[in-house]
Amino acid sequence: MTANSDLVEQTNEYLIANYGRLPVAMVSGAGAKVWDADGTEYLDFFAGFGAGGVSGHCHPAVVSAVKAQADELLCCGNLFTNAPQIALARALAEKGITGGRTFFCHSGAEANEAALKLVRLVAGQGRYKIISFGNCFHGRTMGALSLTPEKFQKGFEPMLPGNVKVDYGHIDAVASAVDDETAAVIVEPIQGEGGVNVPPVEFMQALRRLCDERSLVLICDEVWTAPARTGEWFAYQHYGIEPDVLTIGKALGGGLPVAACVAKPALAEKMVPGTHGCTLGGNPLCAAAGAAVMKLIEEENLLAAARDKGAACIDAVRSAGAGKVKNIRGKGLMIGIELDCPGKEIFNACLGRGLIVNCTQETVLRLAPPLTISESELSAGLEIFIDALKE
Ligand SMILES: Cc1ncc(COP(=O)(O)O)c(C=O)c1O
Repeated sequence: MTANSDLVEQTNEYLIANYGRLPVAMVSGAGAKVWDADGTEYLDFFAGFGAGGVSGHCHPAVVSAVKAQADELLCCGNLFTNAPQIALARALAEKGITGGRTFFCHSGAEANEAALKLVRLVAGQGRYKIISFGNCFHGRTMGALSLTPEKFQKGFEPMLPGNVKVDYGHIDAVASAVDDETAAVIVEPIQGEGGVNVPPVEFMQALRRLCDERSLVLICDEVWTAPARTGEWFAYQHYGIEPDVLTIGKALGGGLPVAACVAKPALAEKMVPGTHGCTLGGNPLCAAAGAAVMKLIEEENLLAAARDKGAACIDAVRSAGAGKVKNIRGKGLMIGIELDCPGKEIFNACLGRGLIVNCTQETVLRLAPPLTISESELSAGLEIFIDALKE
């Protein structure tokens, strides 16, 4: 029995089988590389569903911030404040929503739950409907799941009342879905799980205008897209708009669980003591990791890196002209390659040659390497990917 197969067998014995896990156990990571228990090396072009993805695996700046914090204080509870969470919230306010105030939690779904509760407080009695979009993804907790497509809801009904789904990118559909009970619209500025769908600039701008005209809260779910992945701190910045509420998760903690719901001050002030909470949210350890991630994005110029390396990926795949490719889309280092056939075999071929990519919506292959990936690692990964596409 290999080390991998032993760990897989134990996983099957002791863990709930809610994930379609591959028979591989990861043991270490550095930058854009990870190693499994049998010693096989992989180039990681997906970085744990984007969660370790901005800074790469075990970035030295994140590791040293975590080690230093671990020696000082791991947790103090939210009746007290702590410096790392202030540093992270300040960085989010400086780079994102003007004057934004932050609530910290651990996952994207929880950040969206906080946004949903905030909307109820802001909208008041009688306004409870939330508009979300076809092919969206907002998480697996009951509130977030209610917003997410029906295929994820099977077996868990009934959902929260007031979910209204409309086609992504169609402002007329949104306008006709709004009524006196509508409280908010939640949108991914670029859809991730839905297949890396980039809406037109005009759509996002019209959405902002509509929300202003009808007094709706505009929530941007940037759990996949932020920080920095698309070449801006937040993907809404590509459209020249600002949401009222912003949710962030995945890559924010450089691999540690930290997520945030950031709101404009006038909305944030509705969340008074006792209305919401998260025992370990904003704990000093995870917040220190998040603050280190925000700092290194600036210091290592990772917005430009996302743009330049993303353009190089798109050029390489496009000029390889592999026959199966129907469409290439994305921004920065969040790239979707739509095929005219299922992507599973190409995913498997890549994995067999030591490259981790992702396949979503059956036909869309996603590339999201760390923004810190070196030129030579990027070229090596693209070569494997293009070979697999051609076969
Ligand atoms: C846009 C978006 N929102 C929310 C979530 C849920 O995040 P988490 O799995 O951390 O709860 C995801 C997860 O993929 C996501 O892509």
